[in-house]
Amino acid sequence: MITLTPKTLSPFSFLCNPIPKHQNQNSKYTIVTQYSDSNSKPTFNSNCESEFQTERGLKFDIGETFFRHESATGRDLGVLAAALYKRSKGKLRVLDALCGCGIRSLRYLIEAEADFVLANDANDDNRKVITENLSQVESGDDPRWAVTLSDANRIMTECYLKRDFFDLIDIDSFGSDSSFLRSAINALKLDGLLYVTSTDGFSSGGRRPQQTLAAYGAYVRPMPYSNELGLRMLIGGAVRVASVLGYRVTPLFSYYSYHGPIFRVMLRVNRGKLPDNRNYGFISYCHNCGSSQEYSWAELGRMSCPCSDSKVQGCVSSLKLALIHVVVSKSLIVSGPLWTGPLHDTIYITEMLHLAEEWGWAGSGSGTDLDKLLNQMVAESDPRLPFGYTKLDEVASRAKVNSPPLRAVMSTLEKEGYAASRSHIESNAIKTNCSMAGCIRIAKQLQQCSSAE
Ligand SMILES: C[S@@+](CC[C@H](N)C(=O)[O-])C[C@H]1O[C@@H](n2cnc3c(N)ncnc32)[C@H](O)[C@@H]1O
Repeated sequence: MITLTPKTLSPFSFLCNPIPKHQNQNSKYTIVTQYSDSNSKPTFNSNCESEFQTERGLKFDIGETFFRHESATGRDLGVLAAALYKRSKGKLRVLDALCGCGIRSLRYLIEAEADFVLANDANDDNRKVITENLSQVESGDDPRWAVTLSDANRIMTECYLKRDFFDLIDIDSFGSDSSFLRSAINALKLDGLLYVTSTDGFSSGGRRPQQTLAAYGAYVRPMPYSNELGLRMLIGGAVRVASVLGYRVTPLFSYYSYHGPIFRVMLRVNRGKLPDNRNYGFISYCHNCGSSQEYSWAELGRMSCPCSDSKVQGCVSSLKLALIHVVVSKSLIVSGPLWTGPLHDTIYITEMLHLAEEWGWAGSGSGTDLDKLLNQMVAESDPRLPFGYTKLDEVASRAKVNSPPLRAVMSTLEKEGYAASRSHIESNAIKTNCSMAGCIRIAKQLQQCSSAE
């Protein structure tokens, strides 16, 4: 755990004090306001009515800004990744492009020991809350933070044009806003980290395919593992934009939370293109048998489910073949192109877990949600596991048995040599390389065993 020393923190009394004139106004960043008359701005904390919040021991004000306690885990993950980056590179400059009240910026400064954070929000009304929250971090001649009030695309583009690149850019946006991807990638250092967001559960659920096509270049249909598709859609969108600019992105971790819902992905950005078709393609789901498959672009015209092949065997007439084709076409739905590769980097997520343990956020039987989440992410990052997850309720319904206990299914799968893990996205589901038919067989066996007892 990082100790908050007088060197890094000023007393909390700042919260009711006026902001010292020109404090931390880094001359590199012009504070852009939307009001021509600065006297018309509300006076922050003039009567100290604002409610103070605490997160990981840090005290801050949220004023009238958009703030969610439930997003604390997403902030924890961002801070852990940022701190690892600082440890490995020795330097960390962060752009918190949609900072709200500035809590992320504060945490990047204090917990990840960022050398510099640029906190930006388009809402001019947030200015004093952000500034006073960040005033807890003292700055000498070399300011450690600055606040700008501008559109995120504008600030990132200005940084890019000034060749003022950042090690980590946090885009905590609303909806399926992919419009920030291009300017964020441009403003990022090579090998830098880009933390992107989508909060659009309707799109990942396949209810707005035209919207996902426009935002992420992916036509997304309703599939049982839609929340994982939301993450894959977001990564795929970043892959597409990055490759236009000559970069390739690698997900370090992918996080879904049902609050919101929120889809968050930390990407590492480097020069280079994605190898042909690798990890960026199409995903099919067969309503008939419940199995999923991955297809490359080259296989687009040859999609069919193995359950249809068995029906075709023994087929005699072309009429029958045509009828089967109709059945098969209706049972198979396809989404894509999406990211089909790993959601997490095993080494990075393991290092994040170790750091969380070092800071007392996880480990030694802490039983914290973060501990559980990071351990599940490590398990999910097993390279043998394919995309998607299998819901046990779907297995039970297809097997016509009661929903089998998750632990029993996992242990049977592992005994039979399959890879299996829980999913951090869906509590009653497993990620496995065993087919739906195999899971149905196991569910039936488990039901027989329990009724024989
Ligand atoms: C989800 S909130 C940010 C929450 C904050 N990051 C946190 O962790 O508490 C999104 C913020 O983006 C700001 N915003 C919306 N559109 C923006 C834009 N185009 N550029 C910059 N900020 C924007 C809003 O004013 C809001 O404060």
